[in-house]
Amino acid sequence: MKIITIIGARPQFIKAAPFSFTFRKENEEILVHTGQHYDANMSDVFFKELGIPHPDYNLEVGSGSHGLQTGRMLEKIEDIILKEKPEGMLVYGDTNSTLAGALAASKLHVPVFHVEAGLRSYNKLMPEEQNRILTDHISNLLLCPTQTAVDNLNKEGITKGVLNTGDIMFDAVLRNLEISKGKYINGSWLNELKQDNSKIPNLKEKEYYLATIHRAENTDNHNKLREIFSAFEKFDKPVLLPIHPRTRKLIEELNIELNNVKLIKPVGYLLMLYLTANAYMVVTDSGGLQKESYFLKTPCTTLRDQTEWVETLENGWNMLSPIEVSTILEAVSRKLDCFKYPQPQLFGEGNAAEQITQAILNGGK
Ligand code: UD1
Ligand code: UDP
Repeated sequence: MKIITIIGARPQFIKAAPFSFTFRKENEEILVHTGQHYDANMSDVFFKELGIPHPDYNLEVGSGSHGLQTGRMLEKIEDIILKEKPEGMLVYGDTNSTLAGALAASKLHVPVFHVEAGLRSYNKLMPEEQNRILTDHISNLLLCPTQTAVDNLNKEGITKGVLNTGDIMFDAVLRNLEISKGKYINGSWLNELKQDNSKIPNLKEKEYYLATIHRAENTDNHNKLREIFSAFEKFDKPVLLPIHPRTRKLIEELNIELNNVKLIKPVGYLLMLYLTANAYMVVTDSGGLQKESYFLKTPCTTLRDQTEWVETLENGWNMLSPIEVSTILEAVSRKLDCFKYPQPQLFGEGNAAEQITQAILNGGK
């Protein structure tokens, strides 16, 4: 079978690695990179570390407003579909690249396979929520990471072609955790951080917070962003923050002064896994990182009002916090009772790549 797969943003590279490896054993995949993320540490590093096949096309769309970015992708993806004549179009997650790929294919009557279908935060102001709802409603195969996602789709009347395959990000963690440990044990993780920022102190495992902030809902609102960084400055341990270029620009523009926060460039996936597994707590607005914290049994505080990954909230492994200094401080200083509770296998068994491949080959039966 011949399909086109669209990737473009950091989490999609990570999801593509296990799937491409599995699907390509007996099938043909044309990989299209939209160029939504393009800095070496937002893109190339993942291809190198995870052995993701070199993209067949790079659309080099780059940054821009939602309409401009999505429109440019749509036009270029259409040309590739007409040329390559695939039997299906696979898209991941909820970015502008996801929607562009799904829409271009659907208009040309090419079946759309959506990996990470069915997630809902029920906040339609989020660009991600808009992208996921629209993509789900034009998809032929809805490959859900959890039972909650299946139920969400059923509630919207989508029942055909819906399958719970487990979470492809769980596959990625299981495949790379030992490699990450092997690479970063014996303090080489700290050396790598210090090479980037010589002011990084001698951190020890479990004695730092790992934070990431990039979502539009937090960065577009400058008051919220200031509130988040004021809270970080009051944490009882240093905050290590691999910073998304979008947030770095804003910190500079807004002259936000940082002492307890230690900024570093975005890091590769293997170092990120090590830092997540060994943090005292993760504090983030990322979707993927909430789950990785859960898989790696590191408590998480999510700086958002809703999460689509509701399973992670059970037993306090993850906690939502509205964006106010006092509530953030309260959430991070909570008693970590979560360690008393075993985690149910709510994200599958780490074989989502095989399940997705089979589902595509069976045409959703
Ligand atoms: C996008 C996704 C978001 C996802 C995130 C993963 C959408 C609407 N949002 O958000 O769901 O969580 O990717 O990281 O698709 N920039 C650079 N270099 C890069 C990439 C971006 O400097 O390589 C800067 C540009 O100033 C750009 C800004 O970051 O305008 C935002 O990038 P964009 O891809 O539009 O959105 P993300 O915030 O990355
Ligand atoms: N990640 C990474 N390096 C970083 C920050 C994040 O490898 O410096 C990984 C992280 O481990 C997760 C994915 O990127 O696998 C999440 O991407 P992001 O937070 O950008 O997007 P989201 O999941 O919110 O869509």
